[in-house]
Amino acid sequence: MAKKTIKAIDALEEAQRIALAPFVFQTSVSLRKLGVFSYIFDNRDANGVSLLDICEALKIPEYGLGVLLEMAESAGLVKKNDAANFELTKTGYFLNYDKTVSVNLNFTNDVCYKGLFHLKDSIKNQKPEGLKEFGNWNTIYEGLSHLSSEVQQSWFEFDHHYSDGIFTEALQIVYSKNPKHIYDIGGNTGKFALQCLSNSEDITITIYDLSGQLKKALKNVKDAGFGSRINGKEIDWLAPNPQLEKGADLIWMSQFLDCFSEDEIVKILKSCVAVMDDTMPLLITETFTDRQKFDNAQYVLEATSLYFTALANGNSKMYPATVFIKLVEKAGLKVEEDIKLGEYHTMLVCKKNEA
Ligand SMILES: C[S@@+](CC[C@H](N)C(=O)[O-])C[C@H]1O[C@@H](n2cnc3c(N)ncnc32)[C@H](O)[C@@H]1O
Repeated sequence: MAKKTIKAIDALEEAQRIALAPFVFQTSVSLRKLGVFSYIFDNRDANGVSLLDICEALKIPEYGLGVLLEMAESAGLVKKNDAANFELTKTGYFLNYDKTVSVNLNFTNDVCYKGLFHLKDSIKNQKPEGLKEFGNWNTIYEGLSHLSSEVQQSWFEFDHHYSDGIFTEALQIVYSKNPKHIYDIGGNTGKFALQCLSNSEDITITIYDLSGQLKKALKNVKDAGFGSRINGKEIDWLAPNPQLEKGADLIWMSQFLDCFSEDEIVKILKSCVAVMDDTMPLLITETFTDRQKFDNAQYVLEATSLYFTALANGNSKMYPATVFIKLVEKAGLKVEEDIKLGEYHTMLVCKKNEA
């Protein structure tokens, strides 16, 4: 991300912001959870609210709220008006009300915060050392269905937030290929399968995933009444020789391959190629770091890479399309269509490369 040259005094201030960033972050989390941002915003037409008004209304001790609001004011989250009452700044407003910011903040706090303490060791040892904050697994995906409900909620909201929005658009492309049997690789909670089946009469889907997620996905799809058109196959792509069965006429992978290292991606895609004929499409949907319109989207993706490093698996990341497409080609595929979906996503429609 290109940055403008800044004055030394501004650079020092920026450095101090970074040095103390966890204080501002936890201040934001606390003010959201205590309902202070909402209370200030809800009373915006009453010429702001005083510290004592907030303490009384929300039953928060004065000392504690005082230190939180001092930090929040210096960090630009709230401001005092002419009557010395608190109002939300635009940043405070987005922190409390913007959906994407909320999802990122909860994911950071509930899933990543403690684990990130082990980032340096994760990098040295090439292992997600932060995962031990939750349990004794090799990757977070093995433990996903065993995490506490609060952690699961933030994990799934983060995952779903970035994929749900593009399924409708993506499905038009899926349907245009006229598939009868789709493999949904990394089907997770079955959300894609559910949407796909509920808008078609004759498609059957087989979800491939780890055992915990597979059970969850199948239950969700069956409970919604699509039991006759959904199947599941347990697979661990990190096992020595993972294989797909033949029988699909389209393979779908959404936000899946970023959970793996470059070598693992090639291995997974080669397993797909082994069951593909020359006409079968493999649809890969990803958020690529070099395909983002706004710097803040790239920033979110680069932070997500560090979640993979410290917590998820220790060796994957959000990839630039330039790197990713080379991996696709290395696995014996060619990219036939390169389609922008929604604000952040790209879909690569791949076919087996006969050359
Ligand atoms: C980030 S989620 C993708 C969710 C979904 N496709 C979407 O678009 O929202 C990644 C999925 O890959 C699965 N996965 C991760 N590691 C795996 C492995 N080693 N073997 C099989 N599946 C794995 C996870 O269980 C999870 O369902």
